[in-house]
Amino acid sequence: MHVKIADDVYWVGAIDWNLRLYHHTYSTHHGTSYNSYLIMDDKIALVDAVYGPFAGELIGRINEITPTERISYVVVNHSEPDHSGALPAIMELAPEATILCTAKCRDYLERLYYPDPDWKFSVVKTGDEVSLGKKTMRFIEAPMMHWPDSMFTYVKEDSLLLSNDAFGQHIASSQRFVDEIDEAVVWEEEAKYFANTLYPFVGLIKRKLDEIKDSGIPIKTIAPSHGLIWRKEPQRILDKYMYWAEGRAKERVFVAYDTMWESTGAMAMAIVDGVQEAGVEVRACRLSATDPSDVYTDVLLSKALIVGSSTVNNTVLPAMAAFLEELKGLRPKNKIACAFGSHGWGGGAVKVIEKSLQQAGVEVIQPGLTVRHKPSPEELKECVELGKRIAGSVKQSGN
Ligand code: FEO
Repeated sequence: MHVKIADDVYWVGAIDWNLRLYHHTYSTHHGTSYNSYLIMDDKIALVDAVYGPFAGELIGRINEITPTERISYVVVNHSEPDHSGALPAIMELAPEATILCTAKCRDYLERLYYPDPDWKFSVVKTGDEVSLGKKTMRFIEAPMMHWPDSMFTYVKEDSLLLSNDAFGQHIASSQRFVDEIDEAVVWEEEAKYFANTLYPFVGLIKRKLDEIKDSGIPIKTIAPSHGLIWRKEPQRILDKYMYWAEGRAKERVFVAYDTMWESTGAMAMAIVDGVQEAGVEVRACRLSATDPSDVYTDVLLSKALIVGSSTVNNTVLPAMAAFLEELKGLRPKNKIACAFGSHGWGGGAVKVIEKSLQQAGVEVIQPGLTVRHKPSPEELKECVELGKRIAGSVKQSGN
């Protein structure tokens, strides 16, 4: 069923109820949607397609409103297959349509689909406008939000920002609008989306948000290409993106650890006790038992990281090694941290953690805590004190 989102603008996308792993890296506990929008005017525009296996759903929804053959423009805001997979099927039905996209997007589409030479492309850039009759589409390039080819389409007369991946969430729902479902789920999935898709590009995101603000364009609705549409108070998601892009987080500590024989695990729990006793929110997870994409969300949402591993072969356990490597790529801003861990003889994990945290741009604010074999009662007290000290630093740092 298509859904009206503004006068003569309709959601015609597809719902993927069963997606549980996006990009083969990112768990999607709530499934997802691939959102496409149809703008009906003297000329008809389709903004974004859907993932290829869902082409039939898209075309069925378009045909509820108008024959697909009548489409004049297909805007491809971003070429990744979850938004362009159905493009060949659309072009088969509407061969006279012109594809509007950035120069990089055209390049990527040509490599992804080796299209028929008859496909008509028109490359657009920031500020370009295309009139459909009464409505005008204006284009805003948004490189690295989250691919180099990404752009937004702004429908001027409706103050409607079709933002593609930016501001979206992986949620499959029978509802189409944020204000129709439990908002806690929306915020949780927004954070996970940002942490797993956009985190390394926060500098560019901040500049793009400033550019949108400075342009003064009114934004009444933000309709992303995944999940629910922000039709009420869209400024809230713009503000939240700025908050995350600036590396801000609330007073919260994340204890990420892995343990071989529960000695490092016992240290972790004592550290958690210390943070709690100091009155600061804390979350802990054993990395080898936790979905990595949820772990990165906890990194985004926490001011401090306390990271611990047992030592094996003079280094960290495998799940910790993977976490630290990913952290170097994410380069989280404005985090403070320290390390801990137990070892049997040679040690090494704590030093590896500290070095990796520094390489990730995280500020290590105190020397790591190491114990040999099993922590003694006195050493567990030291762990509690470490938790308290980090909690105190979190309180001092503000957000
Ligand atoms: Fe939702 Fe970058 O694709």
